[in-house]
Amino acid sequence: MIENLIKKFGKEAVDDGHCIIHFDENAKTFREMFQRYALYDTVIEIGTNRGITAALLSCYAKRVITIDIELNDWCFKFWKYLKRDNISYFVYKPEDIYSYLENETFDFAFIDGDHTGNFPRNDFEAVKKCGKVLFHDYFLDKRFPAVNEVINSLEGHLWIKEPYVLWRAE
Ligand SMILES: C[S@@+](CC[C@H](N)C(=O)[O-])C[C@H]1O[C@@H](n2cnc3c(N)ncnc32)[C@H](O)[C@@H]1O
Repeated sequence: MIENLIKKFGKEAVDDGHCIIHFDENAKTFREMFQRYALYDTVIEIGTNRGITAALLSCYAKRVITIDIELNDWCFKFWKYLKRDNISYFVYKPEDIYSYLENETFDFAFIDGDHTGNFPRNDFEAVKKCGKVLFHDYFLDKRFPAVNEVINSLEGHLWIKEPYVLWRAE
């Protein structure tokens, strides 16, 4: 499967520098954390990019809703090739993402959008109602200080394994 993906889409189909479908320790950590609480009904992803993680998430949830501020057509051919038909892809302005999420029901969220300024905090506030949130790009060297800030302020259970942090409300 992986060889076919590389043949069709190039090496970036499995690792474009942002995604987690590759073979290192990060990929293992992601799967471990995501699958920790079994199967999900609806998963939210903030930050789609090429839709690579969305494809992976869609194997373990009935539905994936992935949201970005920029459209990337690459996603469609990638998901079609993988026969993933349970991914809804929305492109919104940042402020509209939050009003969309307010009215949506979901049971897991993956935050991987803008890692700077108020975005990590606001993204978390918008999805925390689901009770289980996975953050990407948490580094002890604080290369994304805004991500560290929000994580260090959280109550509840944290499972930290750089570059991921899984938060659970109870
Ligand atoms: C690191 S990439 C996401 C990678 C993707 N989650 C994956 O693993 O395949 C970050 C994405 O976040 C998007 N982004 C930037 N600012 C955003 C915002 N405020 N809300 C949602 N997405 C945003 C960017 O356009 C980019 O596509």
